[in-house]
Amino acid sequence: MLGLKLPTDPRWVNIVEKNVEEILTDHAYCEQKAASTAISLIIGFPEKSELVKEMVALSREEMGHFNMVHEKILERGWTLGRERKDEYVLELMKFFPKGGSRTTHLVHKLLYAALIEARSCERFRLLSEEMSDPDLCEFYRKLMVSEANHYTMFLQFARKYGNREEVDKKWQDLLNYEAEIMKKLGKKETMHG
Ligand SMILES: [Fe+2]
Ligand SMILES: [Fe+2]
Repeated sequence: MLGLKLPTDPRWVNIVEKNVEEILTDHAYCEQKAASTAISLIIGFPEKSELVKEMVALSREEMGHFNMVHEKILERGWTLGRERKDEYVLELMKFFPKGGSRTTHLVHKLLYAALIEARSCERFRLLSEEMSDPDLCEFYRKLMVSEANHYTMFLQFARKYGNREEVDKKWQDLLNYEAEIMKKLGKKETMHG
């Protein structure tokens, strides 16, 4: 379960299937935001050479995913719409208090990224298993495989740059907080809705 405390209600897939254009639009921007996060980590922490290298690779990979989703939208005769608000991420990012040292700030960014990757991966898996459209099942299965490693990479970086014990405690607290957010979600045709 990728460390997650609460699985997504499988009925969410029924909502998604009623509006595939909406989920693909929202999903495209999730990939773009994943790439943007990787780039912002490079800008914010240029002295962390190992992180910089991985974030260069990740931003490319995530933009590759963005392109795949964009192609899927075009294939179906649609045009990419405007970005949707991600209430899940906005809510999640209220967890850690603002301020603190640069290292603390880095650890918090890495833990948020790890969690968003883990939840996205769980949702991709659900889509790949439960959607009735075989083309989309295959599409989400492929994406799930390539996303699976991102969550562990972010968590490992958090443990590398922060204090291991402190990071593990924060991770558990964040997972519990996320489970509370998830109780209210699973009702909208967005990737984290
Ligand atoms: Fe991705
Ligand atoms: Fe990812």
